[in-house]
Amino acid sequence: MTTILGLSGSLRRASLNSGLLRAAADAAPDGVTITIGDIAQVPLYDGDLEAASGIPAAVSALTDQLAAADGLLLVSPEYNNGVPGVLKNVIDWMSRGQGMAAFKGKPVAVIGASPGNFGTAHAQSHWLPVLRMLATRPWWDGRLMVSRAGDLFDDQGTLTDTRPAKSWPNSWRALPGPSARAGRDRHRPCRADRARPARHGAVL
Ligand SMILES: Cc1cc2nc3c(=O)[nH]c(=O)nc-3n(C[C@H](O)[C@H](O)[C@H](O)COP(=O)(O)O)c2cc1C
Repeated sequence: MTTILGLSGSLRRASLNSGLLRAAADAAPDGVTITIGDIAQVPLYDGDLEAASGIPAAVSALTDQLAAADGLLLVSPEYNNGVPGVLKNVIDWMSRGQGMAAFKGKPVAVIGASPGNFGTAHAQSHWLPVLRMLATRPWWDGRLMVSRAGDLFDDQGTLTDTRPAKSWPNSWRALPGPSARAGRDRHRPCRADRARPARHGAVL
């Protein structure tokens, strides 16, 4: 069994990105489980809080889930062409204490949805130096950038259009398994450079 920790970087009730994560979890193939982490109780990072009380329980829970997982799936909104502070804050907290060890060598993918034309392409790129700093392993055999997403989800944030899902089988082929955790590092030609945002929907 391959276990992936999925984190959506939005707290919004009808979040497109949380909906994308739920849809990805529903579409996971046999043998793969995507566990959705709860970021709602993670406080803003504050060094004084950390010094006084240590790592908050909500953060430790996520770090434990990450340590037990074979990979991490970040479903990231894009704010002002960059990463959203909400999700960066969670990752920053998780990197404290013993958390760095949970990231080290862990395959991490970044996908996302936005109502705009570029489907979080900028934000996905802006995650790269963060993920490098955390010594994660790139898991980007394909890219999933869901553009013009406002038309693909209902008002509850549930994906109602099947086009993004059609891209997932390609992504799942690159899912890290337990062998990846053991450090096996296959070089794959990266197709990301060929990715183009679709006029409407998902891209690999
Ligand atoms: C402060 C702010 C900045 C934003 N900047 C961008 C942006 O640079 N590119 C983009 O495609 N969408 C941008 N958006 C729109 C978000 O993609 C949109 O609100 C999206 O629905 C947020 O994700 P969520 O639905 O998962 O909450 C921005 C939204 C906010 C609130």
